[in-house]
Amino acid sequence: MQISPDISLSDNGYSPQNNLHLLENEPQMIIETKGLHKVFHSSDIQTIALENINLNIEEGEFTSIMGPSGCGKSTLLHVLGMIDDPTKGDYFFMGKNVAKLSEKEKNLLRKKNIGFVFQNFNLIEDLTLWENIELPLIYQGIKKTERKRRVEEVIDRLEISHRKDLLPLQLSGGQQQRVAVARAIVGKPRLLLADEPTGNLDSMHGEELMNMLNELNKEGMTVVMVTHSQHDASYSHRIIHLFDGQIINENLNRHR
Ligand SMILES: Nc1ncnc2c1ncn2[C@@H]1O[C@H](COP(=O)(O)OP(=O)(O)O)[C@@H](O)[C@H]1O
Ligand SMILES: [Mg+2]
Repeated sequence: MQISPDISLSDNGYSPQNNLHLLENEPQMIIETKGLHKVFHSSDIQTIALENINLNIEEGEFTSIMGPSGCGKSTLLHVLGMIDDPTKGDYFFMGKNVAKLSEKEKNLLRKKNIGFVFQNFNLIEDLTLWENIELPLIYQGIKKTERKRRVEEVIDRLEISHRKDLLPLQLSGGQQQRVAVARAIVGKPRLLLADEPTGNLDSMHGEELMNMLNELNKEGMTVVMVTHSQHDASYSHRIIHLFDGQIINENLNRHR
C-alpha cells in the first residue's frame, strides 16, 4: 500500500503554519497530573482503573511504572498519551491543560511530541514493516530521503532490516515488538511512552533495547516505561509502584 504524504498530512491537519508544537517558554515539567481518576463502566460493572494519581515528570526523566496485572498501568499510559481521557482530574502536558484542547490540537500535539509503544503493538496489518515505521515521519511532513535515512538507521539498530518488506502477521511476536518500538522512536519524540516494551523479547534483544532507550534518554528524550522486570526498571531514575489504581510507593534509583 502506498501512502501519499499529501493525503496523510491533510488527514491529521498538519500544516507548516500550524506551530502549536513550538512553545516560546518551554516548561520544565513535561507531565503534571492532579487527582486523575479513570472509571470504566461496562454493562453493570464499574471498574476504578485509576484513583487520585498525582504525578510530576520533568523533561529528561526516565520513569518506570510497576505493579501487578490489572492495577492500571496501561490505562495510565493511555491517559498520559492522550489516547484516553480521565474521568476526573487534570492533566497538563508541556504546560497545556489537555481537557481544554480540541481533538485536532490533541492529535497534533501527540504526533509532534509523543511516541507510543502499545502492549499489543497496534501495527497496521496491511502495511509492511518499513511502511509502519515510516508512517510517523510522513505525519511529521519529513522529506522522503530523510525518511529513508531515519528508518534505515532504526531498523539496522533493532536488527529487523532483512524483514523490511514483510507484513506484521508474517513476523514473530518479538519482531513485531521491535517494529512497534522502531515506529515509536523514529520521529525522535520528546516523550516516549512504552508499555512493557521488552515483554516479548529474548534477553539479548531486551538488553539491546534497554541500552537504546538509555541512550535516547541521555540525549534528552523523556521515557515513561511500564515493566515487570526489576532489571529493566534499574535503567530508570525513578520507579513508581501502582496497586489497585493508586500510586502506593515511589523509589529513586541512586545508581543512575
Ligand atoms: N476499556 C476498558 N473497559 C473496561 N474495563 C477496562 C478497560 N480497560 C481496562 N479496564 C480495566 O481497568 C483495570 C486496569 O486495567 P489496565 O490498565 O489494563 O491494567 P494493567 O495494564 O496494569 O494490567 C482492569 O481491571 C481492567 O480490566
Ligand atoms: Mg497493561
